[in-house]
Amino acid sequence: MPERKTRRLAGDEGGIQEAARLLRAGGLVAFPTETVYGLGAHALDPTAVAGIFQAKGRPADDPLIVHLADQSWLDQVARAVPDRAHRLAERFWPGPLTLVLPKQPAVPDSVTAGLATVGVRVPAHPLAHRLLVQADLPIAAPSANLFARPSPTRAEHVLDDLAGRIDAVLDGGPTPVGVESTIVDVSGAEPRLLRPGGIPAEAIAAVLGTTLLPPPRPGEHAGPQAAPGLLDVHYAPRTPLVLVLGSPSAARARLRQEIERYRAAGKRVGALLPLDDRELLPEGVHVEWLGAWAEPERSAARLFDALRSLDRAGLDVLLARLPADPERGLGRALADRLNRARQESVFADEAAP
Ligand code: TXA
Ligand code: MG
Repeated sequence: MPERKTRRLAGDEGGIQEAARLLRAGGLVAFPTETVYGLGAHALDPTAVAGIFQAKGRPADDPLIVHLADQSWLDQVARAVPDRAHRLAERFWPGPLTLVLPKQPAVPDSVTAGLATVGVRVPAHPLAHRLLVQADLPIAAPSANLFARPSPTRAEHVLDDLAGRIDAVLDGGPTPVGVESTIVDVSGAEPRLLRPGGIPAEAIAAVLGTTLLPPPRPGEHAGPQAAPGLLDVHYAPRTPLVLVLGSPSAARARLRQEIERYRAAGKRVGALLPLDDRELLPEGVHVEWLGAWAEPERSAARLFDALRSLDRAGLDVLLARLPADPERGLGRALADRLNRARQESVFADEAAP
């Protein structure tokens, strides 16, 4: 892959103009959205899109999300938009909701990994919006990380992964939501949740007046594209992560035991914990704190930055427990990302002291 000189552009009018110029010329530009940084390219230019897959080391069967300045651009990339998609767009755009819809022929097959559908969203971040308006193009953008690494929530994370591989990053500081968009497939007879994310699935179901079909489980369907991009291991730190599952009290007790066990074996241990566990405060353990159990938004905003910090700390093993109710609100997205980041799960026994 030819080396590129990666520029860090300020998140001001000059930076936006330059980022838009690069995108129009077929370049690769990372930019902030309200969820995570995206790695953008001209969505209707197959050569530019090919650059995204090359820069990330992303497999070609993992489709990209197309970003639009507003709902009026939808017809450029999607067709036969059902009424329920319009209702969701009215309610949640701009915002962290991706809708999977039948695609327009103008969208290159490389964007959609050969699927007949395309994922689209209108991001709420002001810099993303101004960039889309200035470039005046639909922008294809996956998260701006190397394949299978945690998504980037700061410009530094983008540079850590992609410096020398992309043309620029537009620096907008930390992204506020911190986990990726919720993806709903509204192209079929019944709406299906494909990925929990920044908009709670309950809020989407309430607007639709129906429950969402659950994401297909890995291996549930034959064929590589049954659950595109939903690989089991994803978002992973390089240091092995052990996820302790179970009720909060049982998981907490087991976590303390596991930390002691690893330390007795001479391991350097890191932990990713909700603020409720402050009194666990094991000495000599590198801890990254998320929000309290009752504050999933705060935990989501910290999650990927915390995983990357732990990964840089030169540790042998990372221990974590879920920082929120995995069945509700943003807790669903947090549980999903931690399940994909973990190398191993341990189930805390309710009967244990
Ligand atoms: O918040 C986000 O969604 C961020 C920001 C940058 O917008 N983007 C993001 O993109 O997370 P990425 O590439 O990391 O995840 C895109 C995922 C794919 O892996 C796939 O699971 C799903 O979106 N997807 C895209 N198009 C699809 C389609 N036509 N059918 C089914 N799933 C699709
Ligand atoms: Mg991604």
